Amino acid sequence: MAFPTQRMRRTRRTPGLRGLVRETHLRPDDFIYPMFVAAGGDVRREISSMPNVFQLSINNAALEAKRVYDLGIPAVLLFGIPDAKDEAATGAYDPEGIIQLAVRAIKEAVPELIVVTDVCLCEYTENGHCGIVDGSSGEILNDVSLELLARTATSHAEAGADIVAPSDMMDGRVAAIRADLDREGFENTPIMSYSVKYASAFYGPFRDAAESAPAFGDRRSHQMDPANVREALRENALDLEEGADMVIVKPALPYLDVLRRVAESSDVPVAAYNVSGEYSMIKAAAENGWLDERAAVLEAMTGIKRAGADIIISYHAPDVAAWIS
Ligand code: PBG
Repeated sequence: MAFPTQRMRRTRRTPGLRGLVRETHLRPDDFIYPMFVAAGGDVRREISSMPNVFQLSINNAALEAKRVYDLGIPAVLLFGIPDAKDEAATGAYDPEGIIQLAVRAIKEAVPELIVVTDVCLCEYTENGHCGIVDGSSGEILNDVSLELLARTATSHAEAGADIVAPSDMMDGRVAAIRADLDREGFENTPIMSYSVKYASAFYGPFRDAAESAPAFGDRRSHQMDPANVREALRENALDLEEGADMVIVKPALPYLDVLRRVAESSDVPVAAYNVSGEYSMIKAAAENGWLDERAAVLEAMTGIKRAGADIIISYHAPDVAAWIS
């Protein structure tokens, strides 16, 4: 009888040994927590498809920001739900818009918390599209949208945003935003670009949360085809060339191969966005008693980090921070 000479189980025998040889560790400061800020006085509305995630009015968002900061999470990512939408998405760059007011309130309540703002028009256009739509062709006009996106980003910086994060996927938006920020004196505001963003079915619950589902058509004319990975590397390289300081791959779990390749080919910090649908799947299974939520979430987050993420954007962030500390 030939017994094994290589015994992998030697270092798995005890929790101590397993800890000693563990290659990937999660820390609260790996995370960014996304939040939905709604117009109104005292709003705390749970999103039906995202248990334990809320639309919050500004006062409640400031309290929630303090809570997550106290859990050790260094940053939040803000999405706005304005009370009015129009064709030109004016709410996106209004100095008194929902995000601009929320940034000021949160920075005042928790000055050390890093406030990242999502830069896109879809929450502010009547039709839910990420850019300005040509009335006759129905096409999303790239270059016209760039001007508005740049204005939006600069208005966020003026309000005190620490980082701006364009998620619209228009061509050339990083360069347009960088130029506008620099011209207005915000040369020190970093851009965290959603450089690789797929046209994904996993954004469904987010569109409930942000009330931003497109009224017609879809986002496939600007977001990437899930089948492509070489194209992701080009998207990423272009954003870096245009001046992105950090990049985001989105979604996370169905795209770990893309994340790995982007991480290997980028010399900037790489974030992975563990999106709404990824959150809701685990929540639904856990509520049915089909999955152990804590174990499943920690395994998923470890997988994302192991695949190369320096930063994880996740709705589970406060749970993870509480579990691991
Ligand atoms: C666009 C934006 C979306 C998400 C983040 N920014 C939605 C979309 O592109 O349709 C999705 C995030 C998630 O699903 O958690 N502003």
